[in-house]
Amino acid sequence: MIEYVPGLENVPAAESAVSYIDGEKGVLEYRGIRIEDLAEHSTFEEVTFLLMNGKLPTESELAEITQRIARARTLPKELRAIIKSLPKTAHPMDALQTCVAAVGAVTPHKNIYDESTREEMAIDFIGKFPSLVAAFHRSRTGQEIVDADPTLSVSADFLHMLTGEKHEPLKARAMDICLILHADHTMNASTFATRVTASTECQPSAAIAAAVGSLSGPLHGGANEAVLHQLEEIGAKEKVAPWFEQKLAKKGKIMGMGHRVYKTKDPRANILQDLARQLFVKFGSSPLYDIAVELERIAIDRLGPRGIYPNVDFYAGIVYSRLGIPIDLGTPIFAVSRIAGWTSHWMEQMRHNRLFRPTQVYQGEHNVPYLSMSERKAPVRTA
Ligand code: COA
Repeated sequence: MIEYVPGLENVPAAESAVSYIDGEKGVLEYRGIRIEDLAEHSTFEEVTFLLMNGKLPTESELAEITQRIARARTLPKELRAIIKSLPKTAHPMDALQTCVAAVGAVTPHKNIYDESTREEMAIDFIGKFPSLVAAFHRSRTGQEIVDADPTLSVSADFLHMLTGEKHEPLKARAMDICLILHADHTMNASTFATRVTASTECQPSAAIAAAVGSLSGPLHGGANEAVLHQLEEIGAKEKVAPWFEQKLAKKGKIMGMGHRVYKTKDPRANILQDLARQLFVKFGSSPLYDIAVELERIAIDRLGPRGIYPNVDFYAGIVYSRLGIPIDLGTPIFAVSRIAGWTSHWMEQMRHNRLFRPTQVYQGEHNVPYLSMSERKAPVRTA
């Protein structure tokens, strides 16, 4: 008998050295380095190097990867034309998934069996992601696409390409911290999607497009958007308790709470909560934050004993809204960051690839006779 494990919970799907989680203790490490240390001292470019290469860069290695990512931010005219042709009403995650497949369509197929070609393709995606997200946002809002500025960091240039303005350092640093926090997270659904698709030895655009689609769902990356809608729906701090009781009575889920691996508060949620407070000092508080804190208090009291605590998405949306970013760009920002993890996993998968081909537990019938059309019963219609 083969045991079926729904959601492959606790089933190892790869051997990986990219990141590590201790869900009981609330620990997250990239290549062995604690996320708290990276959020305090590092940059997204440095974290990208770390994830891809397994060690922190030297000064010259950091300068080199920063330049290569910056150069890759420029969008070719074919991609700009595709972005402009997309419906303005498209969800930015659908637009991003289309654009990632389009990167594959406008790039000649390359030799993915060569390590340095893979690295070059990975850096190209890491550079392109902020530009694709920003360009679609400009296009859907009827504004000119803003060219990348290679003198800026990924986070500062992303804000620049979104708004057309150069931002103050605190906003760029806040965005940088968000990008650091979301860059990798072990064998989550989108990383698994990357590795499963990549195991067919397809071009990386196919694997990354699968990952973007997987990230868009509300049980994964889409939760940060759902959290903001949830806080808006609650509307006021004093309405949290009755809203919560009603939600639980209907067996509804509190968005931004719970995690398959963490059974305590996600360490990234703590860092984002601190970041939100720092932004409030400079840019004013948000009524949604007070609602969120009250919701966290009640939820921990009621759901904490079952291991359900705030996850990364709980405070991410509030931070983005303080940075003036529209709600539906929360998940694309997650992707702008996670592309560093996806490509690191792609490269790791390719080094020791074996085609994913799991099995199933068949529940259907056998030897069913083929009925001619006249022998088939018409469905019973109920009034
Ligand atoms: N609110 C209320 N109850 C929750 C919950 C939440 N956010 N998350 C889990 N639960 C409850 C479920 O209702 C279920 O209860 P039951 O046993 O009485 O049926 C139990 O906990 C197990 O839930 P399940 O969804 O099977 O757990 P999981 O390990 O698959 O949970 C998530 C992981 C992320 C899918 C889940 O916590 C969730 O849907 N959270 C909300 C979405 C979210 O924030 N996603 C972002 C993840 S980073």
